[in-house]
Amino acid sequence: MLVQKVTSDLRGRTKDGREIPKFGSFERAGVELHRHTELCATWDAMHNMLTAAELRIFGWQSYVKAPIFVRLLQSFRPYICPLEKVLENVPEGSGVLDIGCGTGGLLFQAARYRQLREGHGLDSASSSIDVARRVAETIPTKIKFESAQSFDQWPCEQFDVVTTIDVLHHVPPEMQDEFLKQALARVKPRGLFIYKDMAQKPAFCAISNRIHDLILARQWIHYYPFERAIEIVRDQAFTVDKTWTGRRLVYQHEMLVAFASY
Ligand SMILES: C[S@@+](CC[C@H](N)C(=O)[O-])C[C@H]1O[C@@H](n2cnc3c(N)ncnc32)[C@H](O)[C@@H]1O
Repeated sequence: MLVQKVTSDLRGRTKDGREIPKFGSFERAGVELHRHTELCATWDAMHNMLTAAELRIFGWQSYVKAPIFVRLLQSFRPYICPLEKVLENVPEGSGVLDIGCGTGGLLFQAARYRQLREGHGLDSASSSIDVARRVAETIPTKIKFESAQSFDQWPCEQFDVVTTIDVLHHVPPEMQDEFLKQALARVKPRGLFIYKDMAQKPAFCAISNRIHDLILARQWIHYYPFERAIEIVRDQAFTVDKTWTGRRLVYQHEMLVAFASY
């Protein structure tokens, strides 16, 4: 089976000689999210081992059923997007809703490295959802993918963790605030919200990303101010736990992790 193959291929030693852990059970019990910090401390050791190169191998091996272009994109995405920084904040065994999941890369990685209890991916592009479903058939975990063009097609239930990664700059400006509020409304009490998007500064990074999106998404994007994201998250009764900014190649990223205080 593919997963067994991936496990054995990925097992091995890290640069500093530690063994890369095997898959855990996909059926772990739920986690108490107030233990998030403790869980993340445990994860730190593992996170140190997780590199873009390892995620690239995982992307290549898990996307065998995807068109070659998607497979290549998934393989090289970890070099331009700090996915391991997102993964390190997902508590082990949690249920995750990924809004704007694309072809599902983050959920598959979370299933592999964070032993998701369940995953739910939604995206407005049905072609991406079709690919995600095809890949999901090869991975024995509970991940459901749905295409959704409007908020009323989003799931009504709440999740331990809601992620939205590099999506908001694709949303029309007049809908961006509401998009964020709708995403926050899907977080369970004491649950987590993880947001990452592309930064507007420095200018050369913003221009590089704009060109990237003109070519790949054929879209004129609209950057969303990070300060505004923080403001909305706080207004919706969340506590910002962490913020992070950093660069990968010519792409500048902004991320926040927040707890529902209710
Ligand atoms: C840059 S891709 C990021 C995909 C994925 N989150 C990742 O990190 O690999 C942006 C995704 O957001 C989706 N998207 C844009 N607007 C959306 C909306 N209003 N609702 C849901 N998905 C949306 C696009 O279809 C696309 O798949």
